[in-house]
Amino acid sequence: MQLTITRPDDWHLHLRDDAALSTTVPDTARTFYRAIVMPNLKPPVQTVDAAIAYRSRILAALPETMTFDPLMTLYLTSDVTPEIIREAADTPCIHGVKLYPQGATTNSEAGVASLDGMMETLETMAEVGLPLLVHGEVTDRDIDIFDREAIFLERTLGPLMQNIPALRVVLEHITTKDSVEFVKAHPEMAATITAHHLLYERNDMLAGGIRPHLYCLPILKRSLHRDALIAAATSGSPQFFLGTDSAPHAVGDKESDCGCAGCYTAPHALALYAEVFEQAGHLDRLEGFASHFGPAFYRLPVNTTEVTLIREPTEVPMARPFGETEVRLLKGGEIVNWRLA
Ligand code: DOR
Ligand code: ZN
Repeated sequence: MQLTITRPDDWHLHLRDDAALSTTVPDTARTFYRAIVMPNLKPPVQTVDAAIAYRSRILAALPETMTFDPLMTLYLTSDVTPEIIREAADTPCIHGVKLYPQGATTNSEAGVASLDGMMETLETMAEVGLPLLVHGEVTDRDIDIFDREAIFLERTLGPLMQNIPALRVVLEHITTKDSVEFVKAHPEMAATITAHHLLYERNDMLAGGIRPHLYCLPILKRSLHRDALIAAATSGSPQFFLGTDSAPHAVGDKESDCGCAGCYTAPHALALYAEVFEQAGHLDRLEGFASHFGPAFYRLPVNTTEVTLIREPTEVPMARPFGETEVRLLKGGEIVNWRLA
């Protein structure tokens, strides 16, 4: 059995930089034509020039036989002025601005401690139609890590969307039923959903031994939340679309006293999503989720080429080279039912 769909795009991706690009860029470009590239480098991508330079480094790592269009983003800090927003909106390769609450995740030290001083910048984004891509978690130490996403909706995102209703928002990598309901209640917004949050719940990470390669942020939640994510992703609603949040870390940085957050899924992401859609009995809805709903939200054309998945039990490689070391794949060494043709 095989499945041919419009070539998909990845609406949330970490490619990293320098030596990592020689693995991450082809790993994504083998499946996806475009990807929204996250700006959480060190230092963060905060200017149009930095985004353009990063895009050139990405394209320099693209093998000649492949095609790929990196869609760039800026990292929101108080240095991102309304002028920079206007310049970004006039720059064809820039498609969004990422909000990292300070301290929420990898390289978020430069992120936003409070939105209070950001209103002019955010209003300008609404005016020029540049989407805000949101890491939706509060970071207060007194809030339980499993509640951080739900509380963010209540304390930060709800009020923001009331204050600036014209702001175009993507709630990234949603992990809770609360977020599914929040998105449905705001028909003008969208959300991305990762393969790992569809495949796993927190018991998979913590029961019977700790599995650092399943540790990501927002953290895996209990199974009722995963069920809500599967229902949303496979519902056919254009508000929910594919964003892998593929986030490679060197194997030693994951298997460590203080392990980094992130799952590397770029090479086999489409096969992972296909498993979820097939299990839910909605394989026919994979194409909308992977290839149609993202471009509709971002006001871009749908891709004109296709990819084919073949249903054949296939072992996931354990690891890929990553600079001087390697990065483990999600489900490395396990069997998945699909592979790219
Ligand atoms: O698991 C994650 N890894 N979540 C994020 O929000 C960031 C990402 C990374 O950059 O490593
Ligand atoms: Zn991410």
